[in-house]
Amino acid sequence: MTSVTAQANPNIAFIKYWGNRDNDLRLPSNGSISMNLDGLFTRTAVSFQPSLPFDELIINGHEVAGKGLTRVSYILDLVRTLAGINLNAEVMSENNFPAGAGIASSAAAFAALALSASKAAGLELDEAQLSRLARRGSGSASRSIPSGFVEWKMGTGDDDCVAVSIAPPEHWALTDCVAIVNASHKKTGSTEGHVLAWTSPLQAARVADATRRLDICRNAILNKDFEAFANIIEHDSDMMHSVMMTSNPPLMYWQSATVEIFYAVRQWRASGLPVGYTVDAGANVHVMCLSEYAKEVEKRLRELPGVSNVLVAGVGGAAKVV
Ligand code: DP6
Repeated sequence: MTSVTAQANPNIAFIKYWGNRDNDLRLPSNGSISMNLDGLFTRTAVSFQPSLPFDELIINGHEVAGKGLTRVSYILDLVRTLAGINLNAEVMSENNFPAGAGIASSAAAFAALALSASKAAGLELDEAQLSRLARRGSGSASRSIPSGFVEWKMGTGDDDCVAVSIAPPEHWALTDCVAIVNASHKKTGSTEGHVLAWTSPLQAARVADATRRLDICRNAILNKDFEAFANIIEHDSDMMHSVMMTSNPPLMYWQSATVEIFYAVRQWRASGLPVGYTVDAGANVHVMCLSEYAKEVEKRLRELPGVSNVLVAGVGGAAKVV
């Protein structure tokens, strides 16, 4: 059968997904909002082949077995069931950004896989169906299917738990300057972390308050209100990390350089530079700014102690076949 190649951007969450109400289906405890990261992508080619005795996964030129392959085969199984086929697949995937760089590679990877595998199996899924399929591989991948600024709705169950675009990339010129303070792989991955979320007594309060934060963030994006945007993304990120730090066992992703950047960013904003920070399950800091200030922000970040590199990305589009 024919090989289909698709590519997807990673995304950065402004209102975070942390904790599931159903771990198997990856139904999140709260909705989330993100932006796709332009210029960074995973490109994945899938072909179903009668001659293959099992699924084969090659990432950046290296054959992958074990857990990584199991997670990919799980998505391929869903596709095979939908398409009514019984063939094994060859999956070849490449990232143009470094692994462990503070950018969730699983989001781009499972969005690209959902699109390439479904097409290669002869399916024509719409955006909602693709988002739902990508979600089963990695929750945040559901948000890398639609374009630009994206909201992943909690939904009531599997069917309506999908991500939709709330504004196209050209709506607002924002840039993510990712300050790399630690390029090594994180100790506890998101999947294990989600399971711990509900061991923190703060998770219930965080979840109960999510609609308020989603409304503020969505409105800030729609109204291009940077001050409101910066305040809510920092607040939401700090809340998620409070849950992480108070889980059992506790998860502490920040390093001293991470906190140094928080102080710097808040000081820069107070003195008139439009910047705000957000941090995922790692130590690196995503410093959001209006794009016209990106050069200045990048320069300042590079001067901070403990910052080894800065990656720069604007607002990206939808996952697509290439
Ligand atoms: C902190 O989507 O990576 O980046 O569903 O287990 O693959 P899995 O988790 P994942 O979790 C992302 C967590 C986060 C916040 C976010 O992106 O919303």
